[in-house]
Parts: sequence; structure tokens; C-alpha cells
Amino acid sequence: MGNSTINTVDVLGCAQEVIARCKKLAAFSEDLSGTTRLFLCPAMREVHREISAWMKSLGVEVRTDAAGNLRGLYPGERGNAPALLIGSHLDTVPNAGAYDGVLGVAMAIALLQALQGQKLPFGIEVIGFSEEEGVRFGTPFIGSRALVGRLDEALLDRRDRQGISVREAIEDFGLDSAEIAQAALTSNVLGYLEFHIEQGPVLESLGLPLGVVESIAGQSRVEFTFSGQSNHAGTTPMNLRRDALAAAAEWVVAVEKLGQNTPGLVATVGAIEAKPGAANVVAGETRVTLDVRHGSDSAREQAVRELMRQAEAISSHRSLQVRHKILLEQKSVAMDPLLAGEIEKAIQKTGCKPHRMVSGAGHDAMVLAEKVPAAMVFLRTPGGISHDPAESVAVEDVAKAIECGLHLLNQLASNFARN
Ligand code: GLV
Ligand code: MN
Ligand code: MN
Repeated sequence: MGNSTINTVDVLGCAQEVIARCKKLAAFSEDLSGTTRLFLCPAMREVHREISAWMKSLGVEVRTDAAGNLRGLYPGERGNAPALLIGSHLDTVPNAGAYDGVLGVAMAIALLQALQGQKLPFGIEVIGFSEEEGVRFGTPFIGSRALVGRLDEALLDRRDRQGISVREAIEDFGLDSAEIAQAALTSNVLGYLEFHIEQGPVLESLGLPLGVVESIAGQSRVEFTFSGQSNHAGTTPMNLRRDALAAAAEWVVAVEKLGQNTPGLVATVGAIEAKPGAANVVAGETRVTLDVRHGSDSAREQAVRELMRQAEAISSHRSLQVRHKILLEQKSVAMDPLLAGEIEKAIQKTGCKPHRMVSGAGHDAMVLAEKVPAAMVFLRTPGGISHDPAESVAVEDVAKAIECGLHLLNQLASNFARN
């Protein structure tokens, strides 16, 4: 594969198609008013059907593994060639944009298309992960955890708000949860590459289309349940209440304060559910989520401990109980330096300046990095807006990302031939 391959590809046309495809997939949603696609919901079936058709038209063999990941293998020159994995996730947050996750899968297919049938010394496995956001079950990376052999019994038993377990969701989708182990990576993997929007303002502020991710910040997710006493809102005097929602509210503000006062820390309560949930009933129980992130694992762990202490103090002061459940302790992860170096070179070849950066968002790459060399390319995100329908990406930046991807494949093919 030489540079001529890149010259003959209409990258702008490919980029327009990538964007059109992301927009098309955004219409497959659990609600009609926007894009919401949680782990293995019915709309995910339509996404699989659509992406499978794109891949099959390129001669790619497509399957869905038992964790619900959509996987297409574009074979290498030889039957036993190792595979480079390229992908991202297909689930979304509620009321999402069109590009978070899906762009990385559409990019992978655009690269295969640009190869025009040409085979490389390695195969390319496109992966559309079933779950990365952690919305349905409160804990993320269900898809990628299956690939590294970490989708364990406890996680399979976890239930969503409707009482459906991960295992049942898998069976309901027509998959066999007993086959999860077969979703795990084999040893014949060259590495994992993920294209993703930055989801922040850094590249835009620097006037740069593409970035190289050096590391991904760690994250903790913890669920807290404050328990008091539900009672009549009209007859219970203020000083005799054990209001679980008021206690949670006091703690939510404490979470925000700690985030504001600790350099590098972001701490978020993104969901709250009060029971029984009626205007004329003092809440007896309130469940809240906590998401804490920091580049330093020890700073993150210390912040989580402090927030647990504050939840206890607030509850005890109000004669309530609080309990917590740790749903995720994901350490910060360095990307593979060799692969990141190759990405940097590939970006330079597109005429752009590569910017090395830390990702504050979590990505499947941080899980894959446990087993294989993993690296990421970030695309500038207009206005830094993500996890919102206003999320966007410029067609020229997608074109640069495709160019970068083709240079990278070229470099990896040359390196492979040399070794
Ligand atoms: C994924 O979008 C995350 O929460 O970082
Ligand atoms: Mn994402
Ligand atoms: Mn996301």
C-alpha cells in the first residue's frame, strides 16, 4: 500500500458520507424526539442492520457477539493475519448527539471503503461496542469489558430500572449469554484504534482539527441511596421530617463544591430519583448517581472517600441512613506510546499539527488497553459541545481524520512488513 492509495480517494466525499451515516443512525432511537439508544434496546437492532449492510457491501463478514457488540472482519492478505481493531460504541446517552461513538464506527467503515478492496498484511476488525455510556445499568463499558474477559457474573446480574438484568437483556436481544467468553479477544490482535470527537473545547481553542490521546482520565461511579421516612407533606412539621430528598440535595451541592475547589477534579451528580415521587409526600428514599474523574487516580480516590464521608455526616445530622454501591473504579490509562507516535506522524502527513492531550471522557480504548496496544485520534468538537443534540463535527475535519487513518494504515503496513 503506497501513498497513491490516499491520493486516489475522494476524502471529502467519504467524509460527507460518514456524516450522513451518523445522522442516519441518530434517527434509530428509543424516543421520537431525539436520540436515545441504551444497551441492546430495540433501536440497536436497526443500527446493527444498517451498519451490517454497509459492511457486507464491502465483502466484510459480520457477526454480533454474545455481549451485543457488532463485529465485521475485513481479512488480511493471509488467512492467519493478525487483526487491527478499529471501532467505538453504538449506544448513546439520553437525548444524545449524532457523533459520540457512532463516528468512530463510521470512520472505520470509511477506511475499509477507501482501501477499495486492497488487502493489508493484517486484517481489520470493525467493532461497534454495545455499551460504553453506563446509562442503562449505571456502569459503563459492558461491550468492551466482554472483549477483555471482564464481563463477570456480578455485572451480568445487575438490573436496570425496569428490573431487567444484563443477562436478560442479552437473551431478549436473541443472544446467548452463555457464549460471552467467546466474545473475548484472541491473541492475534495488533492493536485497537478509536476515532472519537474530543467532546471538549481544547482542539477548537488551538485551531487544530486532530489530536492524539496520550492518556484517559480515570473515573469512579458510585450510587448512593439516602433513606429517611416518607410522610404526609401537609401534616409533618418541618422539624420532625426525615426527608431523603432534602438530604440528597444538600449532598449534591457538596459534590459540586468539592469539584469546584479541587484542581483537576470533576464531580457530577447526573441523575436523581426520589421515592415515592409525589408532590404531597416527603421523600422516604432518594437514589443519586455520582461520577468522579481526575487525571490522578489517588486524587480521584481521595475525592470519592471525602464525598462518602460527607454523605454520612449529612445523613447522620438529619437522622437518616445512607448506603452506597461502587459501580465502577476505572483507573486512568496511558495509550500505547508506539501507536500514539504513529498517529502523530500520520496527522503530520495530513498537513495538520498533532496535539497530544488527555481525555477527560471515558472510552472503550481505556478498557481495550488492558490487553492490546490501544490509541485514539480526537476530532475537534465545535463549541466543545457533546452529550447534547447540538453535538457536531466539521466535514473538513472528518476528511482530515480519514486522511490520517489512511496514512496510519500505510505506516502500520510498512512496519509490519519490516518486522
Ligand atoms: C462517556 O461518554 C463518558 O462518560 O465519559
Ligand atoms: Mn463516546
Ligand atoms: Mn458519551
